[in-house]
Amino acid sequence: MAIERLVEPTLANGDGEEERIEISLRPTTFNEYIGQTHLKNNMKLAIDAVRKRNDGSTLDHVLLYGPPGLGKTTMAGVIAHELGASLRVTSGPAIERAGDLASILTNLKDGDVLFIDEIHRLRRAVEEVLYSAMEDYKLDIVIGKGPAARSVRLDLPHFTVIGATTRTGSLAGPLRDRFGIIHRLEYYKEPEIEQILERTAGILNTKIQPQATKLLATRSRLTPRIANRLFKRVRDFADVNGDGIIDVPIAESALKLMEIDYLGLDPADRNMLKLMWDNYGDKPVGLTTIAALTGDEATTIEDFYEPYLLQLGLLARTPKGRVVTEKGRRHLQGVHDSV
Ligand code: ADE
Repeated sequence: MAIERLVEPTLANGDGEEERIEISLRPTTFNEYIGQTHLKNNMKLAIDAVRKRNDGSTLDHVLLYGPPGLGKTTMAGVIAHELGASLRVTSGPAIERAGDLASILTNLKDGDVLFIDEIHRLRRAVEEVLYSAMEDYKLDIVIGKGPAARSVRLDLPHFTVIGATTRTGSLAGPLRDRFGIIHRLEYYKEPEIEQILERTAGILNTKIQPQATKLLATRSRLTPRIANRLFKRVRDFADVNGDGIIDVPIAESALKLMEIDYLGLDPADRNMLKLMWDNYGDKPVGLTTIAALTGDEATTIEDFYEPYLLQLGLLARTPKGRVVTEKGRRHLQGVHDSV
């Protein structure tokens, strides 16, 4: 990551403080989980059906996809909690060898939930072991090397995989086919973000005025993780420069200090749009060219910058590359369109 961004929808790898607070804010039940109503209703039904059958069958494997920060990990925790199951958390890049996956799988118990974040980054050899594990709860392993090598099949407990990915496109077809339930997480609606902020204020014991909640919601990129992060920075500002109560002037000053504009864009977003506009105007630009201009990885542009800029209509995707839209150009020039 080129610049550490306040609006970055991934968790910062700092001293663990941010992760600790984020975990303390995470809802654990469907009742506490705000938004994603469609996904929640579908998951509740699937879980109720498993409970009602009560025949030892487990929940189908679930694939959650969509931009980062929208609550895929949180949802996995809620699903496990509602099933009364244990949750084991890992990620695609963390499972380096097939043997690592074998050890995770053989340590699971019937009914457990295995959450695999960034499942699109699993290595091919690991993915192949996962196929038969997901399909018929068998683990195929090769023991020994050369002519003496032999393959054995082990029985595995009946578990549920919850996979999370920012892109279904990069998931191998055979892997995608093994998920019975596939859902996209959507950006939240502003009133939902306001509810999340009110909940956070309650948990962190901070007073925030309703108009300030509304203001923060408009700057949050409709993403709970970013809303909560802004909330904490604004709370710091209120503690230092006021009496700890977050009102509109405090929130406005704090956002100004963070250089977050009225659409929730930070300097890095504006810089990317500006570089694209200054160099290419309204012509399409390839992803790798954008990455070269900003000094970021192409995947960072694709996963972190782009989804929200596309959602706002400041950027468009065409077969020939990305273009800054008329709305994007107006935003760069400081014209405040209504959103
Ligand atoms: N905190 C972060 N995401 C949340 C959500 N979807 N509902 C409630 N609290 C949250």
